[in-house]
Parts: sequence; structure tokens; C-alpha cells
Amino acid sequence: MNVFGVDIGGSGIKGAPADLDRGELASERFKVLTPQPSEPKAVVEAVREVVGHFDWAGPVGLTFPGVVVDGTTRTAANVDKGWIGTDAAALFSEGLGGRPVAVVNDADAAGLAEVRFGAGRGREGVVLMLTLGTGIGSALFVDGALVPNTELGHLELHGKDAERHASSAAREKHDWSWQEWAERLDDYFGMVEMLFSPKLIIIGGGVSRKADKFLPLLKPLRAEIVPAQLQNDAGIIGAAMQASRLAVQA
Ligand code: BGC
Repeated sequence: MNVFGVDIGGSGIKGAPADLDRGELASERFKVLTPQPSEPKAVVEAVREVVGHFDWAGPVGLTFPGVVVDGTTRTAANVDKGWIGTDAAALFSEGLGGRPVAVVNDADAAGLAEVRFGAGRGREGVVLMLTLGTGIGSALFVDGALVPNTELGHLELHGKDAERHASSAAREKHDWSWQEWAERLDDYFGMVEMLFSPKLIIIGGGVSRKADKFLPLLKPLRAEIVPAQLQNDAGIIGAAMQASRLAVQA
């Protein structure tokens, strides 16, 4: 089955129909820049443009970089604060001609895709996906079932929000070497391991393409730690997976 997914990020909004039997995009994705400021109306317009690029009339799944409960966006750490308390599902549905939509946290979407089709496939017990990007996103699974909106990027580390201390954006901003960044990741992963004892940690986000530069520098954990496999497409595929439930209901 093909279902459409849209991944809304701080810099780009990208979408494509995803093939949910194979766990890959069914056609090349289309991307527009995230409007700045990223206020709801402007983002809905950008999403319309992405979906409109394809001949797609069915349900659409969308990721959002904040807490999402029953379609309402509750936080907005790295996007316009106008999203806080917005019924995003209703807004996107209206913007897309009244069709059914599903809205899911971006890291949760990426995790759903990795656990079904990628690095977490067939893994039991506690599996944690961490996305290292502008912020740090998290997706926690127990025997393949997601505990949504865990927000482990906002744990406090050395008196700071962890994502300010250890995200990929923080590394670029402060120009840390891979070694310097790895030491910060050691602190962060150590804390996460202490709290959740995952068996497997999957590292996602754009920087996971360069996993060979920093994973070998990390102090050993009890958890196995591996890079994501679906990389850039995980958000789109996970969003489409959420929307596929609507397709079944329709
Ligand atoms: C947000 C999370 C999001 C993560 C990655 C964090 O700042 O609070 O909801 O998953 O960034 O985008």
C-alpha cells in the first residue's frame, strides 16, 4: 500500500508517497524550504505545495518537531511558538481539502519507520531512537510498541537543556571536533541509559550518515548503539505509517 508522508523540519518540508510494503519512498520526494517564521498558516501553505506537487488524493501523515497529542501540537522548541495549543490535525486537514490527516512527533515517526523497516526491525525489549539534529528527538519502544512524546532531548544535563549540550546543531554552532562532541554524547547517552536501560539505541538525524566519525569515539555502553538505516526518509515513511491507519478506516 502507498500512503503519503510529509516531514516538517526546521529548515525543510519534504514529502512523497511511501510504499509501506517495502518501507521505501514510492517516488522521489519533493522539498520546499520551511517558511520563516514557521507560523502555522505559512507551514500549511508550504505543505499544500508539497502535496500538490503529486497526484495524491488520499490521507496524509505529517511529522511535527514537538509534542503532539490527539492531533494538537503542545510544544514548539525549534519552530514558531504559534503552534503551541494548535489543533494541527484540523488545520492541515482543512488546508488539504478536508482529507484525513495524522500528525505525529518527528522522532516518533522516524522511530516507527526504523523499528518496522530499519535498524530496529525484529528487536524486542526496550529500543530507543535518538535523532541528533537541530534539537534532539526521542522515540521509545517496548517490544515494538511506541511510548509517544518522550522528549528526552529536554532532559537536564550539566544545568542545560540536553539538546543545547549535545545536538548536532550545537556541535556545528560551537565548532566542536568529533572527539569533543563524542564526550558530550557520552554524558547524554550515559544518562539516558541509566534511566531506561535500552537494549538498542538507534542514532538518527542527518549526522547519522557520518556515524563512522563519532560512534567509534563513544565510551562503551551496555546498550548496542547503531546508526539509523532509513536516514532521510524515515520521517516521511513513519508519517505515512500513521496515516495508513486512516486509510484503513476510510
Ligand atoms: C522537540 C522534539 C523533537 C526534537 C527533534 C525537540 O526540541 O521538543 O519534539 O522531536 O526537537 O526535532
